[in-house]
Amino acid sequence: MEMYSRVVGTGRALPGQPVSNAALVDRLAKSGIETSDAWIRERTGISQRYIAAEGVSSSDLAAEAAQHALHAAGLSAAQLEMIIVATSTPDMIFPSTACLVQKKIGASGGPAFDVQAVCSGFAYAMATADLFIKSGKVRNALVVGAEVFSGILDWTDRGTCVLFGDGAGAVVLTADQQPGVLGHRLHARGEFENILRTPGSVSHGKATGHPFLTMDGQSVFKLAVQVLDSVAREVLADVGDQVSDIDWLIPHQANVRILSATAKRLGIDESKVIVTVDQHANTSAASVPLALDVAVRDGRIQPGQRLMLQGVGGGFTWGAVYLRY
Ligand code: ACO
Repeated sequence: MEMYSRVVGTGRALPGQPVSNAALVDRLAKSGIETSDAWIRERTGISQRYIAAEGVSSSDLAAEAAQHALHAAGLSAAQLEMIIVATSTPDMIFPSTACLVQKKIGASGGPAFDVQAVCSGFAYAMATADLFIKSGKVRNALVVGAEVFSGILDWTDRGTCVLFGDGAGAVVLTADQQPGVLGHRLHARGEFENILRTPGSVSHGKATGHPFLTMDGQSVFKLAVQVLDSVAREVLADVGDQVSDIDWLIPHQANVRILSATAKRLGIDESKVIVTVDQHANTSAASVPLALDVAVRDGRIQPGQRLMLQGVGGGFTWGAVYLRY
């Protein structure tokens, strides 16, 4: 009997109160950085973001999102057999954020590890968990995307610091004879590592290099739209579905212009695209599970519908997970 992984619970966590564009503009003006609500809105579609207070870490947000997902799934932490956290902003070099989450939610014993694929991290983590479940090794898995990107932003670079936010989204996957995850594809092209990077490292107790996010925005834009289109078509071809079978497209939430261009290229109506970048900004690995949870809880996503989840980001990496909810 073929086994599938199925999403049985989702959850999210956003730190503190939203920071509006106006509030951010004021904050940046104090250090002489000029930007405007109009520029941010027009170029990105972002109107607010959440920024974690000092001391709030990715594992804090991940654990909170995980608790909500477990509650929605009707499972206890003790029933989890695997935890994967997608993050590029782990609490520390080690242990992994996943191990810290395991401790915080009171789970124990099963494998727990992080996946680092930047904004594609959640797709990578979902595909990994799906393969463990399909193989019969694991019954219940927790997959989280969690980021405190505010900690790696150069707050003097207006070209990047207005684009990102902090948060976490989680799903509980369980083994089922009914699908579930129908297919996935993951990709990377390391030759583009320089268009989006945080080129710092730690050596002899000191941060070296440039431990802040840098980006060639236009190159990222072009590549993102191209690969979000191609990877969706690959997964649909694997499964034998058409674009018209997708009920909801949930791409990585970097920028509304990327979302619109992707929908147009795929030939999917924009009303079928879940958009949360306006509310959360770009939360990297957290963006897709955050958007998923919003649309599940507001009732747009209904059981049996087909969802295309897509990640794209630093590496350069990209991937898609196609599932029946
Ligand atoms: N406020 C006001 N002006 C700004 C700001 C700002 N926050 N940031 C840049 N500008 C100015 C620039 O200085 C420049 O001014 P100039 O013409 O006088 O030199 C002007 O705006 C245009 O700058 P560009 O960088 O060319 O602006 P562009 O239209 O390309 O928009 C953006 C920038 C929004 C980043 C765009 O390139 C984009 O959408 N890229 C996609 C990448 C993205 O969203 N990345 C997110 C992370 S990647 C990921 O998650 C996959």
